[in-house]
Amino acid sequence: MALMLSGSERAKFTAAKLATDYVKTGMKVGLGTGSTAAWLVKHLGAMVTDDGLDIVAVPTSARTAELAIEHGIKIITLDEAGWLDVTIDGADEFDRDFNLIKGGGGALLREKIVAAASHKMIVIADKAKDVATLGNFALPIEVIPFGLQSTQSLIEAKLKDLGFKTLDIQLRKKDDALFVTDEGNHILDARLGTIANPHDLAWNLNFIPGVVENGLFVDICKAVIIGHENGSVELRTLVDGKTVTATTQASKNLFFDIGQ
Ligand code: 5RP
Repeated sequence: MALMLSGSERAKFTAAKLATDYVKTGMKVGLGTGSTAAWLVKHLGAMVTDDGLDIVAVPTSARTAELAIEHGIKIITLDEAGWLDVTIDGADEFDRDFNLIKGGGGALLREKIVAAASHKMIVIADKAKDVATLGNFALPIEVIPFGLQSTQSLIEAKLKDLGFKTLDIQLRKKDDALFVTDEGNHILDARLGTIANPHDLAWNLNFIPGVVENGLFVDICKAVIIGHENGSVELRTLVDGKTVTATTQASKNLFFDIGQ
């Protein structure tokens, strides 16, 4: 039976499909978290099963690990891998300088560690994540449970210092309980409006005791694959400090596997 996908799911499917071109036999691959990364895991799983693709993967969350195993992908720990050839992950926002907001799915800490241990990080996303300036999406900040309220006060003071005028910081909940990350921490979601200097903000947040990591990924990603619902893709890469854009038209049978 055909699986009916929304336009945005088709776009995510498409971006993830093109990203598989960057994965070759023998590689150690970081697998992201979220709905776009889930398509990647399914595509790679099909390549492992049907085409003999031989890879090992480091998942960025417990749920990605579960999905990878379900789809026949061999997983190892980051310490076993040591260094990864490529990490492919989704994002909540990306700008023209390849800065990202991540952590909407709560996996930002492992995602950043895995991406930083990779030769290359590629973001896969639909067009809705493409922004001129980061900040419309609330910035996830991972904090340890001890002294949570003091940490939040220090974050608020720092944000005021940095000139952020309206502060809306929410402690993330799930099913009426506090959200707990894979590392046993909590997340504060800070809606900041406009983040003019992501580098400066990321640095200042991580300097606060109690903050484990923040969802700003700066100087980590060098390529973004934007999928469109008609199956075409835009590939943006950073080459010698300049953005190079290429577009690829939809390949004929792209949605064949899902009956569309
Ligand atoms: C999880 C993330 C995700 O990559 C981000 O939230 C995008 O998710 P999706 O692909 O479902 O839109 O950072 O922590």
